[in-house]
Amino acid sequence: MRVVNGEQSMDTRAVWFENGKVRMIDQRLIPQRFQVIDLQDHMGVAEAIRNMTVRGAPSIGAAAAYGMALAARNGVDLGTAAVELKGTRPTAYDLFYAVDHMVAMLERGDDPVQAADGYADQVVERCRLIGEYGAELIKDENNIMTHCNAGALATVDIGTALAPIRTAWHRGRRIYVYVSETRPRLQGMRLTAWELYNEGIPHSIIVDGAAGHYLRKDVNLVIVGADRIAANGDFANKIGTFDKAVLCRELAVPFYVAAPISTFDFSISTGNDIVIEDRSEDEVTQVGAERLAPEGSPALNPSFDMTPAMYVTGFITEVGILPPAEIERVRKAQVTGDEL
Ligand code: MRU
Repeated sequence: MRVVNGEQSMDTRAVWFENGKVRMIDQRLIPQRFQVIDLQDHMGVAEAIRNMTVRGAPSIGAAAAYGMALAARNGVDLGTAAVELKGTRPTAYDLFYAVDHMVAMLERGDDPVQAADGYADQVVERCRLIGEYGAELIKDENNIMTHCNAGALATVDIGTALAPIRTAWHRGRRIYVYVSETRPRLQGMRLTAWELYNEGIPHSIIVDGAAGHYLRKDVNLVIVGADRIAANGDFANKIGTFDKAVLCRELAVPFYVAAPISTFDFSISTGNDIVIEDRSEDEVTQVGAERLAPEGSPALNPSFDMTPAMYVTGFITEVGILPPAEIERVRKAQVTGDEL
């Protein structure tokens, strides 16, 4: 991803391995500060996932893959490391997929860092393909709405929901992006807006409650990411996604979910089986360190919601754009090893 820092511009990933350490952009500080942190053991990586230094399903998966590489290099029992990493956040399926993938690679004797680098490279290649397929949906002068951050920060590089947007922009389409701020952690306002600003892509931040207003007025399509997709196409994504999906159906706005196949959890048949992470009340009642809510008022803070498949126009994946009814074909092909 392109990062503009004062007069300088550089290209970086969200998470990578260098000089024996896992390095990652501290996403809690963006856009005020650009800081890279170094981690030397898998417990450090686990804590970085838990406290959201690194976040977004595919980036969480890649960080966990690097965490497993550190565990292998440090002589830690792989089963123990896998449990510790998987225990950090419950909803993003890529975390579980990546750890299981690494255990299989390490047990067959692959080099730990090469295996984790290979995993991260695969994530980026999938995002590139999502960009290629998804850009076909975006016409000149389209207005696109997105929610949360499903950009390069969330996916090592390029993004899922932001991949078609980036690709369409680089193909010369004149586009405009509505970025919903994404209370309470503001991943839209802080992270998506930062990525779009760095690329020079025209956009505006809107409060979450303004989504309906703009969807009715002039949004041509919505593209969001996903944290876990059930076998029937029900999916979990950042809280506030479901509302947009329902509004899109009512207003006949196409609603797309951009995600790699590693986000599909074929072991669960519907979205009712997706575990939704609950986070601290403080994220809702406080702004920074200051509490704005009355002392006696409790808050609820589900980090994700579940959107039924019936609201999804299509899943933009690395194997093409799939309507929910085609997910079963992908599942079968995975079992049989057939080409998609
Ligand atoms: O809590 P977060 O910031 O990890 O949630 C991220 C999202 O909900 C993203 O939309 C999702 O992970 C898709 S990222 C490509």
